[in-house]
Amino acid sequence: MVAAPSCRAVCPLALLLLAVLAGGCAPGDDGLASDRAPPAQRERGRLLLAQYQCGSCHVIPHVQAARGRTGPTLAAFGRRSYIAGQVPNGPDPLVRWIVAPAAVVPGTTMPAMGVSPQDARDMAAYLLALER
Ligand code: HEC
Repeated sequence: MVAAPSCRAVCPLALLLLAVLAGGCAPGDDGLASDRAPPAQRERGRLLLAQYQCGSCHVIPHVQAARGRTGPTLAAFGRRSYIAGQVPNGPDPLVRWIVAPAAVVPGTTMPAMGVSPQDARDMAAYLLALER
């Protein structure tokens, strides 16, 4: 007797396929698989950090001429728990910090650099991806 392929044979395959599709189509959409920003945005951020001369006060890995010592190094900033030791690190607070540091931590010595929120978002994407 020739039966249709049994469910025992087909279902595990179908489940596997579904799992692969679900995992492959939307990495990071849930914010868990990857909290990294897209590479193009990070690259924009890297160039903006150089343009705004953040590196006159900060060491920033792979950013041109970023060897300043006035501010803390931004190496491995993606692994930092706090911004300026006070505010939990993350994309939104970091954008606010870059746009207007004193609005986030009153009395901070980091100056506002005239950065637009859009540019700050790209810079934050780069900084938060720095693991060393
Ligand atoms: C004139 C010097 C100066 C410039 C220019 C400067 N910063 Fe800073 N930055 C500082 C100082 C000083 C601190 C430490 C502030 C504090 O702890 O209150 C700081 C802190 C930071 C921090 C938090 C670091 C930490 O260890 O928590 C980030 C992120 C940062 N700056 C990003 C930037 C970016 C992005 C730019 C360019 C748009 C920039 N900075 C330009 C002086 C500067």
